[in-house]
Amino acid sequence: MSDKLNETPGQTLDRTLVSKKLLNVLNGDWESTPPVWLMRQAGRYLPEYRALRKTKGGFLELCYDSDAAAEVTMQPIDRFGFDGAILFSDILIVPHAMGQNLWFEAGEGPRLAPPIAQSPLDGFTADLSRLRSIYDTVAKVAAALPPETTFLGFAGSPWTVATYMVAGQGSKDQQAARKMAYGDEAKFAALIDAIAAMTVDYLCGQIAAGVEAVQLFDSWAGSLSPAQFERWVIRPNADIIKAVKARHPDTPIIGFPKGAGAKLPGYAAATGADAIGLDETVDPVWANSVLPKEMPLQGNLDPMALLAGGDPLKRATADILEAFAGRPHIFNLGHGIDKETPIAHVEQLLTLVRQ
Ligand code: CP3
Repeated sequence: MSDKLNETPGQTLDRTLVSKKLLNVLNGDWESTPPVWLMRQAGRYLPEYRALRKTKGGFLELCYDSDAAAEVTMQPIDRFGFDGAILFSDILIVPHAMGQNLWFEAGEGPRLAPPIAQSPLDGFTADLSRLRSIYDTVAKVAAALPPETTFLGFAGSPWTVATYMVAGQGSKDQQAARKMAYGDEAKFAALIDAIAAMTVDYLCGQIAAGVEAVQLFDSWAGSLSPAQFERWVIRPNADIIKAVKARHPDTPIIGFPKGAGAKLPGYAAATGADAIGLDETVDPVWANSVLPKEMPLQGNLDPMALLAGGDPLKRATADILEAFAGRPHIFNLGHGIDKETPIAHVEQLLTLVRQ
């Protein structure tokens, strides 16, 4: 089923003469000035995003309108000239394509129905047209991006996606999924495998349509015990990376196990990720010393320092640049940009990183 989808050729511009700094770093090159992009850089802190979103209704409508989603993806590139563009979409597109109903409750967040905690896994009918519209967005962005900009695709990792599928909504401590992982391990393993299989197809589809690297977001990796982390974070991420590499061996993969802390070296060694994203709770000096010297690291400015701006932003940025000065490094936040962040602070950050 997926092979058909992946036959669509990407928009191939002749970019061979232009250097892509971010892609070079993902391939292990060192750059004296690190490339920079920000998680959630296409989002609510941008007035042009809020204006377009208003005309489209909801967030999900925006994701599935490929012209609008391509425009939103380009907005932070046009305004700031980041080194990377991240596809405008969401991690919950995968459960939606698997056949679970998805909607966003205004002011509350995502809802998925029926919750897996209360329903069998075999009751869902996959709808791959939901992925196809995202591939249309990818092709449109690939055709529009400046040649020096690296185009990043992404997916949520199975554990994080499962926490929403099981509970039917977000939760503070991911209790419903953690409970099912112990209490009904066979069902939970089948769910994780099903998400992983769809995620492999989805990432390969994005690559075939034109993204140049992909990131796996495991936003809730920090809520698991070491043994459960090994079983539900490391193993499925390793499975996905192996399967994507079998089809696209030259596409770099960034793993981002948010909150993994002391488990980062194990994750880096066992998943096969080419690069590791670090959240803001990780000490950059420690990460630099315990992770392989040649491995590109991404991060890890506290989004609150960017929100604050001024001297606190200056100091926090300098600390990160200094800690990673000797290795391949991609400057980023440790998590998504806060929606109240002033544009001027993003401009200040870019000056600090690039001067
Ligand atoms: O850098 C990126 O853009 C990466 C892609 C990404 C998005 N969301 C894009 C997005 C990722 C990894 C997510 C994660 C995500 N999305 C989670 C997991 C927890 C986390 O924060 O990592 C959850 C629960 C969602 C669902 C979701 N998406 C919510 C609750 C919202 C806000 C509601 C709304 O109506 O806007 C979104 C919106 C969203 N996801 C935006 C983007 C760029 C747009 C607006 C913004 O947040 O600025």
